Amino acid sequence: MPFLREMINDPEMERMVIGWSFPTSEKQQMDWYNRIITDQKNFRFAIEFEGQFVGVSTLTQIDWKNRTADHGIKLCNNTPKGKGIGTDAVYATMKYAFEELQLNRLHGSFLDYNIASQNLYKKCGWKIEGCYRQSIFKNNAFHDEWPTAILREEYFEWKKGFLKNEENAKNVVKGGWQ
Ligand SMILES: CC(C)(COP(=O)(O)OP(=O)(O)OC[C@H]1O[C@@H](n2cnc3c(N)ncnc32)[C@H](O)[C@@H]1OP(=O)(O)O)[C@@H](O)C(=O)NCCC(=O)NCCS
Repeated sequence: MPFLREMINDPEMERMVIGWSFPTSEKQQMDWYNRIITDQKNFRFAIEFEGQFVGVSTLTQIDWKNRTADHGIKLCNNTPKGKGIGTDAVYATMKYAFEELQLNRLHGSFLDYNIASQNLYKKCGWKIEGCYRQSIFKNNAFHDEWPTAILREEYFEWKKGFLKNEENAKNVVKGGWQ
């Protein structure tokens, strides 16, 4: 919980993600936790790397009839970036969403200047579906938001290609791409 609160209250993280929140106290966070603990429409998964908590991957606003959900990811600021942790976490989340929960579509969005996010989702087979112009206000300016999504059939196609890569397949054998 302290790591989560640190991320919520971190201005650099706030600059990179679409969502926003007021500064959050421990009490507010515990109240929030007690509210969501039995929630069947919003799941938050801890991302671990070498036994340490390094971030969260989410499936939220799950619509069980239309079989869609929103997905987001955040790695703590001191987590090594560009090492595949994000890809691993997105793959694990897609696998759970499409292969276990039987969802049909995942969507999310990123800010125009979030190149890491753009590259991550492109690498994971997601498609940009348009542009919400100036829909996000951060640091005294409006920014474009890029909605992105992947369909179930696209995920299975992507997975085949992804696992053809020797390095990725090796990680599966090691249990990395769970
Ligand atoms: C976005 C984020 C999850 C990426 O995690 P990561 O572990 O660095 O991602 P990966 O190492 O799996 O990289 C995936 C791809 O993105 C590229 N990438 C990662 N960081 C990048 C950066 N800063 N600039 C350009 N490309 C980047 C990688 O090179 C890789 O592509 P490649 O394999 O073709 O080279 C991480 O930077 C993060 O948590 N950022 C802060 C929160 C955030 O922006 N969340 C997303 C909101 S929509």
